[in-house]
Amino acid sequence: MKRFVCTAAVVLLTAWTAAAQSRLETLKEAYKDYFTIGVAVEMGDLLATDKALQIKQMYNGLSAENDMKPISLQPREGVWRWSNADNIARFAAMNGMPLRGHCLIWYKQVGEWMFYDDKGKLVSKEVLYERMRTHIHTVMKRYKGRVYAWDVVNEAITIDPEAEDPYRPSLFYEIAGEEYIRKAFEFAREADPDALLFYNDFNEFMPYKRDHIYNMVKKMKADGVPIDGIGMQGHYNIAHPTEDEFRKALELFSSVVDHIHITEMDVRVNAGLGGGLVAEEDTRGLTGVTELTPEIAGRQADQYEMLFRVMREYKDVIGNVTFWNTDDKETWLDRRAGAEGRTFPLLFDDDRQPKPAYYRVIDF
Ligand code: XIL
Repeated sequence: MKRFVCTAAVVLLTAWTAAAQSRLETLKEAYKDYFTIGVAVEMGDLLATDKALQIKQMYNGLSAENDMKPISLQPREGVWRWSNADNIARFAAMNGMPLRGHCLIWYKQVGEWMFYDDKGKLVSKEVLYERMRTHIHTVMKRYKGRVYAWDVVNEAITIDPEAEDPYRPSLFYEIAGEEYIRKAFEFAREADPDALLFYNDFNEFMPYKRDHIYNMVKKMKADGVPIDGIGMQGHYNIAHPTEDEFRKALELFSSVVDHIHITEMDVRVNAGLGGGLVAEEDTRGLTGVTELTPEIAGRQADQYEMLFRVMREYKDVIGNVTFWNTDDKETWLDRRAGAEGRTFPLLFDDDRQPKPAYYRVIDF
């Protein structure tokens, strides 16, 4: 009899757990009153049926991980490659997922042709602006009405905390100074007056960079440059940002723009120096972790819980949070040159199963 009761209890408990799990909300459901939750994908992700299904169920936002970048769309002057980007845009439209455009002007993943003439000399600023304008207009007009927000300029601020010059050295900057940033936003507004226009960067919670971003956006907006929002890339780790660092950045940014998107979220389990240091210049935080132990998974869950709790408080200004990749197996962080060990930065594990952090993000 006793054994029967025990067995029955186990059976009941199992059934209850299964039912509870099946009732679990997905990310987009849990956050429907707060912000949309997106994910960055490669075209191939949408071809795998099971993966595409999970993407549709979990998220209500999409970004192209690489397929809308300058070099992907216009590898050489006047040579356009649309098919991957078009397919991602079609998938987004078919499934009612608002699409973020990433990105129009970036010093990386852009064809060298943008900066040189046929004799191999750097072009004048007028020529550069003409090329930027053509690129921005062609891309934005093609996706007008289908891409609701664009990262117009990506990563223009220095990564050197000591530098006096707030801007990152690049060929755009060398040819045109900070004016290239202003022009990019002006061209973007002309091309699609309805799209939200973002300045996007990483390590955005670090005081030096946060202040550079804030000062730049404030100054440019005062001069009439059409910047609608700040994209905080959100490449974090389990130690940074701290709650205080995160709040300060949100506080400052929301005092100067009405729209903040967390555009590329992941939370590496490395506690190494400087949470968001993900530029290839710094791989210090990328060594040493090979296994996601329960202890580390717990710390990651704490960090994710804190970040989402704070973001919920800022729901009036945060319109979207996008994860950069679907699961730990796919993360770009482990694919980077020089990366050692693993980073396990997402809410889903190598088998695309929810991790402890996932439950903490949806259960509030
Ligand atoms: C990354 C992609 O995820 C990689 O596949 C690619 O090899 C390099 O770029 N900041 C950005 C993104 O704005 O475009 C980067 O995406 C990640 C860092």
